[in-house]
Amino acid sequence: MYSVELVEEKLKILDQTKLPFIEEYIFTDNVERIAQSIEKLEVRGAPAIGITAAYALALSIKNSPKEKYSNDFFCAYNRIKITRPTAVNLFYAIDKMKKCFDENHYNQNLYEILLNKAKEIHLNDIKLCELIAENGLSIFSKKSNVLTHCNTGFLATGGNGTALNVIRLAFENNLIEHVFVDETRPLLQGSRLTAWELEKLKIPFTIITDSTAAFLMQQNKIDLVITGADRITLNGDSANKIGTYNLAVLCNYHKIPFYLAAPFTTIDLNSSDKTKIKIEERNKNEIFEIGSNKITKQNYSAYNPAFDIIPNELITGIITDKKIFYKPFDFKNV
Ligand code: MRU
Repeated sequence: MYSVELVEEKLKILDQTKLPFIEEYIFTDNVERIAQSIEKLEVRGAPAIGITAAYALALSIKNSPKEKYSNDFFCAYNRIKITRPTAVNLFYAIDKMKKCFDENHYNQNLYEILLNKAKEIHLNDIKLCELIAENGLSIFSKKSNVLTHCNTGFLATGGNGTALNVIRLAFENNLIEHVFVDETRPLLQGSRLTAWELEKLKIPFTIITDSTAAFLMQQNKIDLVITGADRITLNGDSANKIGTYNLAVLCNYHKIPFYLAAPFTTIDLNSSDKTKIKIEERNKNEIFEIGSNKITKQNYSAYNPAFDIIPNELITGIITDKKIFYKPFDFKNV
């Protein structure tokens, strides 16, 4: 099962806004529709956004006459680029596609070449997910109670996930006692998506409100925390779903290991530290409504950043497909 895949030259996107109750797919080769899918979080999670963006750029010239290739590709590039600002995977993927376009501009088979490049980005992510899981196994010294935030499984990637794939493999190796799942306000990626994936994997879990994490830690019920990341800068400062910073601070206070898991491609080699990360701010209605239920007055003021930043000093280790990085983080000499 894939969150996004190419089927008969169309993108098949599992609509994550409908989960866990309804498994419904969007089939499209329309760039505007794909851009909206990313914006609405029908497809989400840093690696899955990157893969979707890559396919969108290939599909942008599917029905174009050759003389319009450049125009249609760059219109699509500029549209996809502004969908979501924080996850670096999107920019990494569209820049790879742009390089491929520039290098093969005069080739008769440009569309097939772009499609193959997008498939390569997708296939590569599947491999990276497995390497992350294998590398992550060494953080477990015993059968553990783990807490995670947001969704980092197959829904968020091209393969089996990042942090959730570490948890999956650890469970198969008898290293997981129980998983505590932050509900992840406001869009509930934890209680809707991670819970659904854990149910499918038959891993025992309990959903908690985001504010319950501290109380569980105080009772010594959490051995370690693993989350994903959307952008990691050169000094290790990392952006992830809003609420991750809270967990890192809590772990520091309670002396609990706090790990991030992400493909090496989530490391933004052009950004020195947290000051360079753009945090997406989303519509306040996401706070005011759960599903179609209004929970407070629409005229109230609200602040809805989608991500926060975990400063490097609060991170125990960053699990990647290459290795686990520990402080001081040095991603340049790998
Ligand atoms: O807003 P989302 O749902 O796209 O945010 C997703 C996250 O924050 C994930 O933790 C991150 O992308 C890593 S996914 C492997």
